[in-house]
Amino acid sequence: MSNHPPYDVVIIGSGAAGLTVALNLPATLSVAVLSKTVIKSGSTLWAQGGIAAVLGDDDSVESHVKDTLVAGADLCHEDAVRFTVEHSKEAIDWLISQGVSFDLDDSVSETDPRRYHLTREGGHSHRRIIHAADATGQAVLGSLVDQARARANLTLLEDRVAVDLITRQAPSANENRCLGLYVFNEVTGQVEALRARFTVLATGGASKVYLYTSNPDIATGDGIAMAWRAGCRIANMEFNQFHPTCLYHPQAGSFLITEAVRGEGGLLKLPNGERFMHLFDPREELAPRDIVARAIDHEMKRLGADHLLLDISHRDPEFIRQHFPTIYERCLGLGLDITREPIPVVPAAHYTCGGVMTDLNGRTDVECLYAVGETAFTGLHGANRMASNSLLECLVFGRACAEDIAQLSPVIEEPPQLRAWDESQVTDSDEDVVISHNWNELRHFMWDYVGIVRTDKRLQRARNRVELLQQEIRDYYSNYRITPDLLELRNLVDVADLIVRSALMRKESRGLHFTLDYPDLAKQPTDSIVIPTRYVPEAWKHPSHTGKIVP
Ligand code: FAD
Ligand code: SIN
Repeated sequence: MSNHPPYDVVIIGSGAAGLTVALNLPATLSVAVLSKTVIKSGSTLWAQGGIAAVLGDDDSVESHVKDTLVAGADLCHEDAVRFTVEHSKEAIDWLISQGVSFDLDDSVSETDPRRYHLTREGGHSHRRIIHAADATGQAVLGSLVDQARARANLTLLEDRVAVDLITRQAPSANENRCLGLYVFNEVTGQVEALRARFTVLATGGASKVYLYTSNPDIATGDGIAMAWRAGCRIANMEFNQFHPTCLYHPQAGSFLITEAVRGEGGLLKLPNGERFMHLFDPREELAPRDIVARAIDHEMKRLGADHLLLDISHRDPEFIRQHFPTIYERCLGLGLDITREPIPVVPAAHYTCGGVMTDLNGRTDVECLYAVGETAFTGLHGANRMASNSLLECLVFGRACAEDIAQLSPVIEEPPQLRAWDESQVTDSDEDVVISHNWNELRHFMWDYVGIVRTDKRLQRARNRVELLQQEIRDYYSNYRITPDLLELRNLVDVADLIVRSALMRKESRGLHFTLDYPDLAKQPTDSIVIPTRYVPEAWKHPSHTGKIVP
């Protein structure tokens, strides 16, 4: 049995979603925030373009809602879209109150010091992206981490890898409650059982399931896989967004070239310097991401090219250096002066639109378990997330989740003692190569068979391989002591399974899911929902449940 005193709330993840929840909870609650490595480790840190919100005089909630619905290819849940957009301004005001410093509009800042510079990105009909140059994530996370470190009720735990959620299930009583989780402590090498009255999944996305990605290493879909194993429904996993423009350079690793470069006039070109986006969409470079990524993929395949070009060198060099200092410096370090020459770019896996199904407060199908941020499926993004709506979702839903927990807290009991992790039946592995080999194999075949253009045959091929890997990893997990790499691989394979199953369910092409076998839209747009065997319908019956969750 575990002797840890229980926390009121354990938040798994220290990105924009996790820290927004933490900082909006009452100071009377004891809260642990877990991070898989260091506190600043997730995608939030790398966010470039900014945060979409209705801030400009000429903009409106209706316009932002409409653009989101259009980009989402008729699959967004309008209630989630309205909820998000209507709360966008107060979310930005809250961030500013936490010390985040956004770029001001030079042209008016002397007369109105709070007039922010708003940039534009694909799918947006207005300038509505507030930003801190091209390093918005650093500015946001820097301030939130500073605030969190100053809060006495928050305990920040680094190098803690959540392994699995612990639930008490009684299907006959329609109960499935989360009591806490098992956590691998990388410092001690031990697995600890953490008890919590409330648990929040804020673990980010799963784009590391693909060979080429803009995401940091932590993006292995741990929250989605853990929620799935605990009995949550998972929706729309086939919609993995590929960002059109990641830097193509042998020494670059994964480095994004923000969509704001196109928003400020950057042009996509073929290797011979010709423009091509007008052949695919009248909105050209500022069409939604799914269209631009598919156009680039099409042209690369047609020409046998290993990259295309993004050119902003026609703009004033001083403007480029001021608006895109991070990209300018990074490229210059690789011998590329973007004020004088085009940037070689390729698409790469960027964002997980699907995830753990939640209501508007972040509640999942399992009682006392919430999901917020990229790990969640709220219905906001539909079949294709519009640029810069992601950080906004982290903020709006993070705040709603904290409010819901605060309201429920007085009536939720302390969890019982938990069974300690049992290692008596396992030994140390003597062939770790199995993990690295399987990891590489998975990411290669997901890229080749479940990428930007799909077919049933390719998906079925992927499905067969996923099943073999799942079997092998299950055996490995049962027989050997766990390591962070094994945990991530186990989660990635479960996520790959969910992506492929969802993709096979969808007999149409919509948004980010494009298949040569069904190139048209189905008449009735529907979500792809995968239901686990442990799912307890209506498990969470608290009267304040807003319950948008219908299978
Ligand atoms: P993350 O910020 O990814 O944080 C996840 C956290 O969970 C980390 O702390 C990690 O350590 C922890 N974690 C994960 N698994 C475990 C585990 N098993 N145990 C313990 N802890 C765990 N969106 C925008 O809106 N605007 C942008 O300009 C923008 N630019 C982007 C640029 C790049 C390069 C990338 C990759 C993404 C960008 N996005 C942007 C998307 C956006 O940044 C992410 O969707 C968002 O930051 C996700 O926040 P999050 O809090 O959900 O997850
Ligand atoms: C970018 O800056 O292009 C990324 C924006 C996003 O992913 O929303």
